[in-house]
Amino acid sequence: MAETDIKKGLAGVVVDTTAVSKVNPETNSLLYRGYPVQELAASCSFEQVALLLWNGELPSDDELAEFTAFERAHRALSPELKQVIDALPDTCHPMDVCRTAASVLGAQDPTAEHSSKEANLAKAKSLLAAMPAVVAYDQRRRRGQELVEPREDLGYSANFLWMTFGEEAAQPVVDAFNVSMILYAEHSFNASTFTARVITSTLSDLHSAVVGAIGALKGPLHGGANEAVMHTFDEIGIRQEETAEEAEARAKAWMDDALAQKKKVMGFGHRVYKNGDSRVPTMKAALDAMIEHYDRPEVLGLYNGLEKSMGEAKNIKPNLDYPAGPAYHLMGFDTPTFTPLFVASRISGWTAHIMEQLEANALIRPLSEYNGPDERHLS
Ligand code: CMC
Repeated sequence: MAETDIKKGLAGVVVDTTAVSKVNPETNSLLYRGYPVQELAASCSFEQVALLLWNGELPSDDELAEFTAFERAHRALSPELKQVIDALPDTCHPMDVCRTAASVLGAQDPTAEHSSKEANLAKAKSLLAAMPAVVAYDQRRRRGQELVEPREDLGYSANFLWMTFGEEAAQPVVDAFNVSMILYAEHSFNASTFTARVITSTLSDLHSAVVGAIGALKGPLHGGANEAVMHTFDEIGIRQEETAEEAEARAKAWMDDALAQKKKVMGFGHRVYKNGDSRVPTMKAALDAMIEHYDRPEVLGLYNGLEKSMGEAKNIKPNLDYPAGPAYHLMGFDTPTFTPLFVASRISGWTAHIMEQLEANALIRPLSEYNGPDERHLS
């Protein structure tokens, strides 16, 4: 019998078409609905990009104003959801809180079982508006701080930072955060998006698909990498008194040692991009802006040291999570909150894919080759 050609990890397998985004590893480019992501990051708000992903076109001024009003009106944490979050131990991972919150929001949604495009778009918008309060409050409660109510006079990114830290962020911080939200928003058939599409293909509901996607994103080989990057920085040790050169030398030594031990270093490598992640230069510029804003050259030293050593030893390039981790750290987020920030952004891409899946649905049900014992009998 001819051996089955098994594509472990579905590597290289094209499972469907999508008009949401295009990843081109040859040219290191990523297009959202045709637009290069770096152009969107340079001139759009995250709110505009979410509408682009959902609707296929950038919003008109009226469409943007309508969504902005909706998003600002749906930000507050309901007392019931706050109660559920408060009941969760602060020893659980913040991704568990996100996952639970998405599930609660689904259970609270009277239209949860409605699957028309209009109903799903409304659910997507509500989820996108609601998740920042979950992420922000969870970080605050772990620090023993009170809930900060949203502010309707602030845009998505400025309000996210406000709800997390209880003070207005400086404009460069808001801008860098907005860039990170845009870069994290969408990336074709990655593991979490594919999970969302698999769940949707059974005609399950949008919230269930998002809950599953959050579970897939949690892993360190996927979204959890931005948190894992910070653990690396912490293991090397961030020493504010150090110069960039001193930090770089220590980071290089750490990386050489890690690679000699054949360790996988999170924040490097990518299944699709082999010559560099298209999103990294834009996020690195945002990280540079944070390093300058907070005057933290030693962070740049650590960043450069790890990148150079990995490049020289294995020619493996950083992925988006590599600059995003230290950027979020400088903004003041606690390390376990990093992947929930990815969730808040990727809700836009996941839900765009959920709606696309439903437009031409086919149950996703691959085959496997059995390699267990031959048929046998009890007697
Ligand atoms: N550190 C050290 N070695 C690596 C790394 C790394 N980060 N990534 C790949 N390699 C090596 C790997 O050890 C293997 O070497 P060898 O052939 O000698 O055994 C070779 O490169 C191929 O690696 P692979 O894991 O088989 O390749 P893949 O295409 O399955 O991996 C990946 C893609 C992202 C899972 C992998 O690069 C990895 O584990 N990176 C670290 C986790 C990470 O940063 N994930 C975030 C991905 S991007 C953002 C997102 O989607 O969330």
